[in-house]
Amino acid sequence: MRSVFVWASLALSAFAAPNPKTTPWGDWNDWSRECNPHNVKIRRDFDKLPTHERKAFTDAINCLRDQPSGLDQQKYSAAINRFFDYAVVHTNLTSRVHLDGYFLTWHRMFVWLFEKDLQETCGWNGTMPYWNWPGTAGKLESAPIFDGSEYSMSGNGLPNPLPPVYALGPNFSLPRGSGGGCVTTGPFAGMNYTMQVIPSNLLSQGAPLPPTTFVKNESCLTRDLNDAVSTLYLNQTAYEQALAAPDQATFSVLLNGVFGGAALACTPLLTSQSALPLARSSSHHKIRSDLHPEIADQLYGTMTAVNIPPSANVTLESVVPDFGYFKEDPITIGELISTTAGPFCYRYEYPGQCCG
Ligand SMILES: *[C@@H]1O[C@H](CO)[C@@H](O)[C@H](O)[C@H]1NC(C)=O
Ligand SMILES: *[C@@H]1O[C@H](CO)[C@@H](O)[C@H](O)[C@H]1NC(C)=O
Ligand SMILES: *[C@@H]1O[C@H](CO)[C@@H](O)[C@H](O)[C@H]1NC(C)=O
Ligand SMILES: *[C@@H]1O[C@H](CO)[C@@H](O)[C@H](O)[C@H]1NC(C)=O
Ligand SMILES: *[C@@H]1O[C@H](CO)[C@@H](O)[C@H](O)[C@H]1NC(C)=O
Ligand SMILES: *[C@@H]1O[C@H](CO)[C@@H](O)[C@H](O)[C@H]1NC(C)=O
Ligand SMILES: *[C@@H]1O[C@H](CO)[C@@H](O)[C@H](O)[C@H]1NC(C)=O
Repeated sequence: MRSVFVWASLALSAFAAPNPKTTPWGDWNDWSRECNPHNVKIRRDFDKLPTHERKAFTDAINCLRDQPSGLDQQKYSAAINRFFDYAVVHTNLTSRVHLDGYFLTWHRMFVWLFEKDLQETCGWNGTMPYWNWPGTAGKLESAPIFDGSEYSMSGNGLPNPLPPVYALGPNFSLPRGSGGGCVTTGPFAGMNYTMQVIPSNLLSQGAPLPPTTFVKNESCLTRDLNDAVSTLYLNQTAYEQALAAPDQATFSVLLNGVFGGAALACTPLLTSQSALPLARSSSHHKIRSDLHPEIADQLYGTMTAVNIPPSANVTLESVVPDFGYFKEDPITIGELISTTAGPFCYRYEYPGQCCG
């Protein structure tokens, strides 16, 4: 009930805006715009997609896993295929695109490049689905996204009693979930993970990546769905609090602190290099800009993770960190600030719009 209400108020806030210039997507009635209501692509909740669309998405990911890597194998032996190229490029930028002012726009572009690659390289005609955090909190294993069926993103890992807790910092640890072992069900059953595990306190200490990070070290893909963590950090209240934040600074703290805390804990919550977890931050940011169009352009954060070493605040003119070979020419935060301008033309679904 509650979630219906929230979605309804989101839609109202979006559609009731009196001045078209203040709608989240700009002047909605300007049909001369390159991106307009007629051609905008809609990203939907994975759990509400028809089964054949869910399968088409995971088929496309598996197709990308069948493509050769474009990276230097001497330097990046963990990049065993094109899918892992994304993981390498992302991990390589760990300390430059997390917990700082590039976080949202860099990930928005990264997810968009991945989405485009699935379409262009693998003939997929869908749009990037998102993982509905509050909709799945506390019931991860039975949610369509993780129920282990052929239409899911694969299920939980096999039960594994170790380790007992995940220490994410000196004073912050999380209980273990109900899995932890190899993923054996669904479209990614038997998939291997190839990169070295990096220390969880790396970001908070501003430490460099270990030199062996990209040296291939294959082991099964593990996943530890964690209902305790999802109930605590991804619940409806936490979600609403983040959306209701009066300014980008508070939003960033909530997203990076509460959501980000759990996102950093994505090893326990969901060890998976799938695209979906990457999509979630951008989706929350987008829904939030729809709710508060007046502050959607506000920027917050510096150029280094947790500001170590100290750096300047980002501006609309700041060039975001690179995207490896996926996009080589520089692009600024200002060009990535709207999802219906610049390279983008998408928005997230509203009530009654799912699935035709
Ligand atoms: C996508 O492709 C599938 C299978 O080829 C087709 O059934 C579906 O209509 C296509 N969807 C769109 C939006 O083109
Ligand atoms: C962790 O907690 C201890 C004891 O309360 C405190 O002295 C220390 O400063 C805390 N460390 C961090 C990084 O917050
Ligand atoms: C490979 O990863 C495992 C598990 O993280 C680790 O114990 C092992 O030392 C790694 N092997 C090499 C050669 O680095
Ligand atoms: C996964 O890694 C294991 C351990 O290195 C290896 O034996 C197995 O062949 C790999 N599986 C695939 C599908 O590559
Ligand atoms: C839901 O999230 C709020 C805000 O983070 C938190 O205070 C509360 O304890 C959570 N609820 C449950 C049942 O864990
Ligand atoms: C950076 O932004 C913060 C608030 O977001 C502000 O307090 C600080 O003064 C700014 N720093 C500079 C050098 O402009
Ligand atoms: C990783 O980062 C280094 C340093 O910025 C850069 O030279 C290199 O090209 C990056 N590698 C990839 C695969 O993006």
